[in-house]
Formats: sequence, C-alpha cells, structure tokens
Amino acid sequence: MIAPSILSADFAHLADEADAVAGADWLHVDVMDAHFVPNLTLGLPVVESLLKATDIPLDCHLMIEDPGRWAPPYAEAGAHNVTFHAEATDDPVAVARDIRAAGAKAGLSVKPNTPIEPYLEILRSFDTLLVMSVEPGFGGQSFIAEVLDKARTVRRLVDAGELRLLVEIDGGINTDTIEAAAEAGIDCFVAGSAVYNTADPGAAVEALRRQAAA
Ligand code: DX5
Ligand code: ZN
Repeated sequence: MIAPSILSADFAHLADEADAVAGADWLHVDVMDAHFVPNLTLGLPVVESLLKATDIPLDCHLMIEDPGRWAPPYAEAGAHNVTFHAEATDDPVAVARDIRAAGAKAGLSVKPNTPIEPYLEILRSFDTLLVMSVEPGFGGQSFIAEVLDKARTVRRLVDAGELRLLVEIDGGINTDTIEAAAEAGIDCFVAGSAVYNTADPGAAVEALRRQAAA
C-alpha cells in the first residue's frame, strides 16, 4: 500500500492534490501541534474538509501532545486511521480503545529512537504500527535504515499469528529506499516529497508501488 503524505502538497489546493494521487491506498495527513514536534501544520477543520473532498481513506498521523483528548474527534469525523505517538501518552491502550469506539482504526507510532520491545504486548490493541524512519516534524529528510529492525520484529510476530496489524513506515521513502523497507516486511509506505515534489504525483505513486514489489 502507498500513502502519499500531503505535508509536501500545496495546502491551498488540497482537493486537487488528493485528486492527483487518486490511485493511492490511503492519503496520509500529518497533524503537528508545535509542541510534540517543532512544527505546526493543520488540524480537525482541514481534515473535515478533506473528508468531503476525497474518497481516498484518510490516514491521520497525529504528532501531538495529549492524544487522549485530541485523537478521538478525528475518528468521529470519519478518518480511516487515527495514529498517535507512543511517546505522547502514558495510556496508549485507552487512547486506542477510544479511537476504535469512535469508528476508526487505531495506530501507534514510534520515533526512530524509541524501542519497540516495551510496546509489543499492547500492539494487539492496534490496527497499525507506524514506524518513523525520520525524526517527526518535517518532510524531505533522509531515511534511517536502522529502524527496519523494529519492523522485522513486528513482522515476525504478525507472520507467526501472534499479532494482527499492518506495519507502516514514514519518512525518507523514495524509489531508492522503498526496496529495503519492503524486504523488512512493511505493508504500507508513506511518501511525501517523493510523491509531491515531482511533476506527476500519480505517476510517482505507481513508480513507488512497482519498486516495492520488485
Ligand atoms: C514527518 C511526517 C511525514 C512526512 C514524510 O514528520 O510524518 O509523513 O510527510 O515526508 P518525506 O516522505 O518527504 O520524508
Ligand atoms: Zn507522517
């Protein structure tokens, strides 16, 4: 699965930017609050408008503090996935439960330096694990290959039938890096600059898809 990140899109023309990647599986929406990460992007009003403007399921990646308070409204609005950060809450299972109760899939994200072992037990409460392969906050950074060990660990548990969830990767994915991520067992690839900083975002999505399957 390919999930273009609108962080690298033209925010004044989001409906057109979504149309440009109509063949994508999910549209990745980076919500940043200038506290959990040193950048500010968009919030619930923009997500509500995007939901009306596109049929592509929205994959909301919340890089925010206090997800217990702010995450469930994205699910109520109609987001397909609502993913928040393990580092942002003391009770990720409760947040996941509230997201699911509000009708969305729940995702847990970990920053590059956050180990996965402490979270393996609770992953059964989640539908996706989003492994960050750059420090969250900005598009266009370089892929950190070391995080693939975390993906491999979780992939093994999924393949052994001990967990049921999708493994997603976010940051620095392009046609050069996607093969290594695919080999590590990633199910869903987020790509921002590799899709939107090109002349043909739709073709870029298909190029990533081909490369991931190669
Ligand atoms: C970074 C965001 C990413 C970002 C990826 O904090 O979570 O989704 O858009 O951008 P690229 O693909 O350019 O690394
Ligand atoms: Zn993201």
